[in-house]
Amino acid sequence: MQYAIETHDLVKDYDGFKAVNNLNLYIEKGTIGGILGPNGAGKTTSIKMLTCLIPKTSGSAKVAGYDITTQPDDVRLKIGMVPQKVSLYSDLTVRENVELCADFYNVDPKIKDQKIDDLLDLVDIKYAQNKYVKNLSGGMQQKTSVVASLVHNPEILFLDEPTVGLDPTTKRVLWDLMVELNEDGNSIILCSHDMYEVDKICDTINIIDAGQVVAHNTPQGLKDQLLKNREENNKHIREMITTLELENNPENQEEIAQLRSSLTDEDEKITVMVSNKTPEMIEALENLDVVKLVEDIGNGRLNIDLKRSKTSVNYVITTILSNGGNIASVKTNDPTLEDVFVAITAKKRGELKDGS
Ligand SMILES: Nc1ncnc2c1ncn2[C@@H]1O[C@H](COP(=O)(O)OP(=O)(O)OP(=O)(O)O)[C@@H](O)[C@H]1O
Ligand SMILES: [Mg+2]
Repeated sequence: MQYAIETHDLVKDYDGFKAVNNLNLYIEKGTIGGILGPNGAGKTTSIKMLTCLIPKTSGSAKVAGYDITTQPDDVRLKIGMVPQKVSLYSDLTVRENVELCADFYNVDPKIKDQKIDDLLDLVDIKYAQNKYVKNLSGGMQQKTSVVASLVHNPEILFLDEPTVGLDPTTKRVLWDLMVELNEDGNSIILCSHDMYEVDKICDTINIIDAGQVVAHNTPQGLKDQLLKNREENNKHIREMITTLELENNPENQEEIAQLRSSLTDEDEKITVMVSNKTPEMIEALENLDVVKLVEDIGNGRLNIDLKRSKTSVNYVITTILSNGGNIASVKTNDPTLEDVFVAITAKKRGELKDGS
C-alpha cells in the first residue's frame, strides 16, 4: 500500500505537554483523507509537522514517501498547504502573492502566467487579482491562499479548515476543486469541523483526540460502527439487568432503574412523505409487527417508529404502496457523522477524566 502520509508514534511536546502523542496516522495515496477532532486535539500541530513547518519531538513520518526530518526539501516540493490562519503578504496584491509562491517553487516561467490565470479563474478571484490582500474579505483571502497553494501542482494538498467562514456557494467551489484535484490523482488531507463537508467528500476519516488517532474508517463505516456499538452496549446492559433481577434483592432496584435509563434508543425512526393517505393505510401500518408507532404530523408526513432490522423499511413501503399510496420521500434517523464524533470524543473525555 502506498501512503500519502504515514506517521509512526509521532510526538510534539511543548514544555512537557504532548500536543501530539504517539500519533499513528495513515492516509492512502490518491484519496481524500479527512481529519476530525475537537479543538486542541492536535490536528494543526500534526499538519505543521507533516508540512515541515515545525520539527517533531520524536517518532517518524513520511509524506509522499519522503521522511519529514531527513528529506524535508523533497517533502516541500510535493505538497501544498492551505493553513488554518491565512499567511499571505497583506501589502502585496492577490496576483503578486501567487507569483511569489510560483517563483519560490521555480514554476516554469513559460507556463507561469497561464497557470496563475487558470487558477484565479477556477476559484473566481481573478476580478480581484490587483487588490491588496489587506483589502480583501476573509473569503477572498481564503481563495487566494488556495490558489497560492496550488500553483506548483502539488501531489498532496493539505487544507486546515479551508471553508470556515465561506459562503455556501464558495464552499461548493472549493469542494468541487478538491474532488477535481483528487480525480486527477492528487491526495487531499482535509482538517475540518464541518461534518457535512467531510461526509460528502472524504474517502476515509481519522478522528484525532488528545494527540492520538481514536477512530479510522470510511464515513459510512464509522456510522455503522456506532450502531453496532450501541447494540452491543445495550445487550450488555440488558444482561446486567437480568442478572440483578434474578437475584431478587430489593436493594438492586435503584441500580436496575439506572441501568434501564442508560439504554440507548435502538428504534429506527423514519419520516415518510405520502400522498393518497387513508385511515386503512395507517391501520395497516400500525398492524405491522415491525411498527411500534405511527404518527400523522400533517402535510402528508408520517413519523414511524420501527424495530430496527434490515427489512423494516421494506415492510412499510410495501404496505403504503399496496394501500394505494405514493411515496415522495423517506427520511431515516440513521446516525450522522456528528453523532459519531460526539460519541467517540465523549468516550475519550470520560477515559481522560477517569485516568486523572
Ligand atoms: N506553539 C505552541 N506552544 C504551546 N502549545 C501549543 C503550541 N501550539 C499548539 N499548542 C497546543 O497544542 C494543542 C493542540 O493544538 P492544535 O492547534 O494542534 O489543535 P487543533 O486540533 O488544530 O485544534 P482546532 O480544532 O481548535 O484548530 C493545544 O492544546 C494547543 O494549545
Ligand atoms: Mg487547528
